[in-house]
Amino acid sequence: MTDPILTLRVAEVTPETDDAVSVSFDAGEGTELRHRPGQFLTLRIPAPDGWVARCYSLSSAPGDTRPTITVKRVPGGMASNWICDRLRPGDTVETLPPAGRFTPASDHRNLVLFAAGSGITPVMSILRARVQEGGRALLVYANRDDRSVIFAAELRRLTEAYPDRFQVLHWLETLQGLPDAARLAALVRPWAAPDAALLCGPAPFMRAAAEALEHLGVDRTRVLTEEYRSLASDPFAMLTASPAQLPADAAETATVTVELDGRRRTFPWPARTTLLDLLRAQDVDAPFSCREGACSACACRVVDGEVKMLRNTVLEEEDLAEGYVLACQAVPLTDRVEVVYD
Ligand SMILES: Cc1cc2nc3c(=O)[nH]c(=O)nc-3n(C[C@H](O)[C@H](O)[C@H](O)COP(=O)(O)OP(=O)(O)OC[C@H]3O[C@@H](n4cnc5c(N)ncnc54)[C@H](O)[C@@H]3O)c2cc1C
Ligand code: FES
Repeated sequence: MTDPILTLRVAEVTPETDDAVSVSFDAGEGTELRHRPGQFLTLRIPAPDGWVARCYSLSSAPGDTRPTITVKRVPGGMASNWICDRLRPGDTVETLPPAGRFTPASDHRNLVLFAAGSGITPVMSILRARVQEGGRALLVYANRDDRSVIFAAELRRLTEAYPDRFQVLHWLETLQGLPDAARLAALVRPWAAPDAALLCGPAPFMRAAAEALEHLGVDRTRVLTEEYRSLASDPFAMLTASPAQLPADAAETATVTVELDGRRRTFPWPARTTLLDLLRAQDVDAPFSCREGACSACACRVVDGEVKMLRNTVLEEEDLAEGYVLACQAVPLTDRVEVVYD
């Protein structure tokens, strides 16, 4: 099994606001990060009792000279404060490969984006990529006040560079109060029907934005959301631990065929074992991050048979309709299952 852990060298730490920094990494040999706009890294961060793992979205677009994350302090938070206070150019950090499904389909070129606070990070990556490729985007961006607006100058530059294709509408809570569905819908209404809408921010903001899109008749399957949370588990510990032992009792065992990195392999699949545990035990380099059904790093597509997910707080209706499942939560329902990692 190849080691999925990458070591990145910090090139620059740039203050964005009083409580947010961008950290860019040298994309040197062996640390090349291929990612889609909107994906995240899972970093290993020192903590008082050892280590914690935390996800941070890339704010840079694929192909930018330096992959960059943008981190906002959470009061009392372990990793965000360590990154803002301690990380310096020349330091190294370990990460899992870029992952996540908060990324528009390649033919979705007309986007409505809703971001609040540090939720701008993956949205920035998406809009940088789409606008540079000739697509259109409207961004509704909510913040407490004008001092807390991350990327204010870069957003101004983009609106000047692409006046016909990119517009940003700032929402400042100190002036306008908390955003609600009716007022968000009124802001977005003049923008032509989007191919997709992407939402990232605190839960109440995302609920209001989703309701606004519903009022405007945007199909639910065209709405993608990214929820921020801290990981409770440590995926790095799992990678260094010996593989899980599969149950010896094979009374209820299905068969799974897995296509990953151009290789097809077939394994017996014990009924109560998750697909991810099975694949790691078989030395298959299947991707993952949270193992809690919350990040989608482990998503794969079922092309034959059926599985049950024990937990899913991240895949949307559109993903499920396309056959996507979370390997870290999938157990077999039929005797034969076939899955593909895209
Ligand atoms: C897919 C994904 C992408 C993410 N991308 C980014 C990103 O681009 N930039 C970024 O800054 N963060 C991002 N996050 C959030 C990040 O992973 C951490 O959850 C966050 O930095 C807090 O971690 P911490 O260790 O500092 O705080 P912790 O020590 O985990 O938490 C400290 C306290 O703060 C609370 N808390 C945790 N998170 C938040 C929050 N976001 N807001 C308010 N209170 C909170 C906790 O409940 C706890 O009480 C992302 C999360 C996910 C799952
Ligand atoms: S590893 Fe995060 S959802 Fe499976």
